Amino acid sequence: MKKENLPITRNEAFEILREMNQNDFDMTHYLESEAIMKALAKKLGKDEDYWGMVGLLHDVDWHSTKTDLKNHCIHCVEILREHGFDDHFIEIVQSHAYGHDAVPELREHTRLHAIEHSLVAAETLTGLIYTYALMRDGRVSDMTVKGLKKKFKDKNFAKGVDRELITEIEEVGIELGEFFELAINAVRGIKHEIGLK
Ligand SMILES: [Fe+2]
Repeated sequence: MKKENLPITRNEAFEILREMNQNDFDMTHYLESEAIMKALAKKLGKDEDYWGMVGLLHDVDWHSTKTDLKNHCIHCVEILREHGFDDHFIEIVQSHAYGHDAVPELREHTRLHAIEHSLVAAETLTGLIYTYALMRDGRVSDMTVKGLKKKFKDKNFAKGVDRELITEIEEVGIELGEFFELAINAVRGIKHEIGLK
């Protein structure tokens, strides 16, 4: 497996987010996305550091675009370039907004690569897992695939979580149940960092 170049270390990326983003809820989402992306890379035989970095930084412009959605995944270009990331990395980050009505500039684009399908599925699934964990008194340690599947099917649960984007993981040859198991385990691995148990 070829290691991809990254211009900064994981800790430097974490510090960039910390400096720009003091919101713990958002940081939790980044860390979960990172953990699930690393697990997916391991499973698919890809570069874990690179996939982890994509997960960690995918919403790097969120602090300035959450109230200005049309620029979400647009503003990030400047921020990522400033820190030395190349167009390839930036494009992957941007791809999680492809097809999204709120971002006209990216609406007509289509995700094509495994890392792009993985990112959108992973970052969307974090919402379901986290909401479910909170409902279970913050416990992810004994969360089951069966329980999560039930929540996935329940349209009234975490309504904002787009199930179709989670299903996009099938594009990389991973079944939904397998994805849930991998993701629960990944989040479990960082539970202390994100205030779950
Ligand atoms: Fe995100």
